[in-house]
Amino acid sequence: MTTDYRRDTVYPAFFHREQSPVWLSTVCAALGRAAPAGTRWCEIGCGQGYGMAILAAANPDMQFTGIDVNPDHIALAQARAKAAGLDNAAFICADIRDDGVVEGSFDFIVNHGVMSWVDDAVRQAIASFVATRLSDDGVAAVHYTSEPGGAAFRAFHAVFRSVAHRPNPIAEGLRALTAMRDAKAGFFQLYPHASQTLDALLADPPEYVAHEYLNPVFRPLAFHEVEALFAPRGLSWLGSATPIENIDAVSIPSDAARAIAPVRERTLRETMKDMARNQALRYDLFARPAAPLGDHAHLSLLRTAAWRLLPGAPAAGRLTFQTRIGPVEGDAAIFRPLLQALAQGSRSFDALERVSPFAGRPALLNQALQMLLWADVAHPVVPVANPAPAARLNRILLAEKHRPALVCPMLGSGLALGARDLAALGDGSAPQGLRHLTALK
Ligand SMILES: C[S@@+](CC[C@H](N)C(=O)[O-])C[C@H]1O[C@@H](n2cnc3c(N)ncnc32)[C@H](O)[C@@H]1O
Repeated sequence: MTTDYRRDTVYPAFFHREQSPVWLSTVCAALGRAAPAGTRWCEIGCGQGYGMAILAAANPDMQFTGIDVNPDHIALAQARAKAAGLDNAAFICADIRDDGVVEGSFDFIVNHGVMSWVDDAVRQAIASFVATRLSDDGVAAVHYTSEPGGAAFRAFHAVFRSVAHRPNPIAEGLRALTAMRDAKAGFFQLYPHASQTLDALLADPPEYVAHEYLNPVFRPLAFHEVEALFAPRGLSWLGSATPIENIDAVSIPSDAARAIAPVRERTLRETMKDMARNQALRYDLFARPAAPLGDHAHLSLLRTAAWRLLPGAPAAGRLTFQTRIGPVEGDAAIFRPLLQALAQGSRSFDALERVSPFAGRPALLNQALQMLLWADVAHPVVPVANPAPAARLNRILLAEKHRPALVCPMLGSGLALGARDLAALGDGSAPQGLRHLTALK
């Protein structure tokens, strides 16, 4: 039996904010690592290229390359990019195991939703590609289903694979899982979060469920297994692309944090943290080892950024962060003045340092901004030299059925918008601020 990834259905469109160069550079800076200086970005397993198209339109001065083994994915991606005139986006139909898939090196390499759905040979090929193609100061972001939280879903995979040969395996698999839940099967008693995932799957498009659970391989990975793919190839773990997971105080329950505190060895620490959070997904950053920046250089780097609020941000009120360890109330003494300052408009890091709770405490400001970034409350802003590709792509996306995000050139990224905002942008009745954000004047 081949273990190759299925090519018979198109994976739905997604946008992953963690893949944007601005996001990755911002998280690197927060962790004390200079952002990559170059402008070449690559996605291994880009699907139908929705996310990459958004990033290419938002960053017209950068070069974007998407690689995927499914010709239908690449055909869709190329058609959308061509229609929007994205001359900085190249989509290549290839298996990452093939030699010479692309030329040159990349400053950002991203890989989302692939590692846990392919066999070890493909995982090794992905790691080799990253190790040989990442520029010296580049950063790679690798997303996967992780142990121990993701392990429960092996049982879902087993059910769907058991009916894979039938004419309608998705409906049959969902029926079997629902019947087991209704019957209060031991599995659902032991893993209450599996019940929530089943509810989500019942509402998801069947193509999504097919990619998730009908592939021959579904392999939640432990951190040490992923680290073992990259470390022997000269890449070390830098942190998480999910900012809150770099801040232990708000991502690990306090008893577990006390147990982990004396552990110095990174692999064991990360493994214990995954246990503390019952982590089901990880988004790890890997890079070539570099000496950490000194305090002065780190502060100078943080000061290169400017931030703005995102639509829907609580102007000055209470801020509750819905974290993996439950709701965490934002300290009003910190977040109220920060939100008030940002409500006046975009603010540079050094301007925010002058806001009272942060005077002389840049590390506190750094953490608070990372929390706001993670919570979709604030985002760094970038200068916009050419909004035309963003406007062209957004007009095309607005005409599509499923629109997980639109391009926001001033964020160098995309943004998920609600149905009402999308409708208002479509018929031209959106408020000026939203039209400005999406370059749809
Ligand atoms: C779950 S989809 C994720 C798509 C996209 N990264 C996203 O998150 O929206 C996994 C993608 O990996 C691609 N893929 C699987 N095996 C591959 C291989 N050996 N070489 C290149 N692409 C591969 C599939 O065709 C599919 O588009």
